[in-house]
Amino acid sequence: MSWLHERLVRAPRATPVDMSGKAVIVTGATPGSLGGETARILRDWGADVVTTTRSGGSHPLDLTDAESVRRFAAWYADTRGTLDVLVNNAGIHLDLLGRWDEPHLSADGYELHWRTNYLGTMQLTHLLLPALLRTAEAKGEARVVHVVSKLHARGRNADMFSAPPAYSSWNAYGQSKLALVHAMHELQDHYRAAGLRAYALHPGSVSTGIATKGLDGHRLVAAVRRALGPLERLVLLTPEEGAQTTLMCATDTDLEGGRYFAACRTVPASDEAEDREVAGRLWKETEALVARL
Ligand SMILES: NC(=O)c1ccc[n+]([C@@H]2O[C@H](COP(=O)([O-])OP(=O)(O)OC[C@H]3O[C@@H](n4cnc5c(N)ncnc54)[C@H](OP(=O)(O)O)[C@@H]3O)[C@@H](O)[C@H]2O)c1
Repeated sequence: MSWLHERLVRAPRATPVDMSGKAVIVTGATPGSLGGETARILRDWGADVVTTTRSGGSHPLDLTDAESVRRFAAWYADTRGTLDVLVNNAGIHLDLLGRWDEPHLSADGYELHWRTNYLGTMQLTHLLLPALLRTAEAKGEARVVHVVSKLHARGRNADMFSAPPAYSSWNAYGQSKLALVHAMHELQDHYRAAGLRAYALHPGSVSTGIATKGLDGHRLVAAVRRALGPLERLVLLTPEEGAQTTLMCATDTDLEGGRYFAACRTVPASDEAEDREVAGRLWKETEALVARL
């Protein structure tokens, strides 16, 4: 059936690049996930890759816990120092059935998708910026890659600085990803002259643990999904196929930064993602906020 899968998904491939001598961080690299495959392939291409998860097997990092993020960044600075590529891949999309009436909050009181996907990721990025900029100065280039989603199109700039009138977990997921696209543009604008390039991408619809976690607690739906597993695997990308656009953004030397990608090519992001005034305000407010976390 693999020929049918390949015909159905038509996944493009990133061209392998020699990554020897390059230091990379991939967040959210649980086995069977997009991050896990991204890290495995980057190691195959010669990179020195540090991976993170909350669940063990890699370096511990919980993006919802400011102290955990600080500990990881301090450990990285002490043991490595340079950083060629930061792949901000870790993320959650809970409540796939859209049943939450109210936001679920992190221990420090933020909506959980926003806290994990955006705020934690931005705290990490700010703490790792010195290593990225040092590397860019020494080698002429460093990169930040944001694994977002086409669902960033559900995000609204009108809801960026205050909670929307009605809660939807899908919109909250989209909002966190829209904010990451804005942050990608700001990183590119602020640090392009220093040699930093920033990218955002949609990996495709990929068979990973994200759906299992998103359906946690719905036994009937989970059982139906298990029964339909072979069909799901036929039409969804494998993690290895889904990792290709991330790999391209992390390695392709000719790729201009400041753009949004899907299926290994640049595509337009949502109209909301083009509002640079919102991006600028979000950048300033986020800088102040992550400094206080
Ligand atoms: N799969 C898709 O179809 C799809 C589509 C569009 C976008 N994406 C995006 O692709 C990225 C990777 O997703 P995936 O599909 O590979 O999902 P996944 O299998 O659930 O992997 C997500 C990773 O994020 C980590 N993570 C979750 N919460 C975290 C936290 N609080 N702190 C630190 N790490 C945390 C998880 O590790 P632990 O739980 O062990 O910490 C795991 O390694 C996500 O940003 C997702 O939004 C996926």
